[in-house]
Amino acid sequence: MSSSDDRGAPDGAAHDPEDRSPEAASRRGLLKLGVGVLGCGLAAIPAAPAVGYLLYPLGRERAVGAFLPVGARTQFSATPVRIDLHADRVDAWSRERDVKLGSCWVVEVDGKLQAFSTACPHLGCAVDYEPGEAKFKCPCHRSAFTATGVVEGGPSPRPLDTLEIEEKDGLVAIRFQRFRQGVPHKEPV
Ligand code: FES
Repeated sequence: MSSSDDRGAPDGAAHDPEDRSPEAASRRGLLKLGVGVLGCGLAAIPAAPAVGYLLYPLGRERAVGAFLPVGARTQFSATPVRIDLHADRVDAWSRERDVKLGSCWVVEVDGKLQAFSTACPHLGCAVDYEPGEAKFKCPCHRSAFTATGVVEGGPSPRPLDTLEIEEKDGLVAIRFQRFRQGVPHKEPV
């Protein structure tokens, strides 16, 4: 004689905690996976603003690569002028005001302004300008460059690195950048 429990046996077996069949194990695995995914998703919702807050300063750090004002166009000519570039330095968690980022030479070439980083492309020493010879020279290993930045001698693997320069309303602004040293091509770092 069959009982009411026996009548529901095929479906009821799916909910039997003692059921050790492969099908039951597979169903339990899927259920656990679903609960885990749901839990992770719910946990991520309140964490999202915190992650955004933590990453925010990193985004601001990139903003420091903006054009920096260096003065009036009239102060520059075919004789190179050395300019120090200052900006607020923002790392992941702090801000330092008016920090010197580096320097460049600004010179008029064929009526157009050019800015050369003072960092020698060989190993980064500061390049000087020799007005008597109209050349840029590096004191460390004697690399020499023409007034337009072309290598004339020494171990420098490439010309002086140009920086982006902008003229607007009679004012000049320069974007400071560093480049990999000792390599033949200009690579921002
Ligand atoms: S660092 Fe300028 S020549 Fe070596």
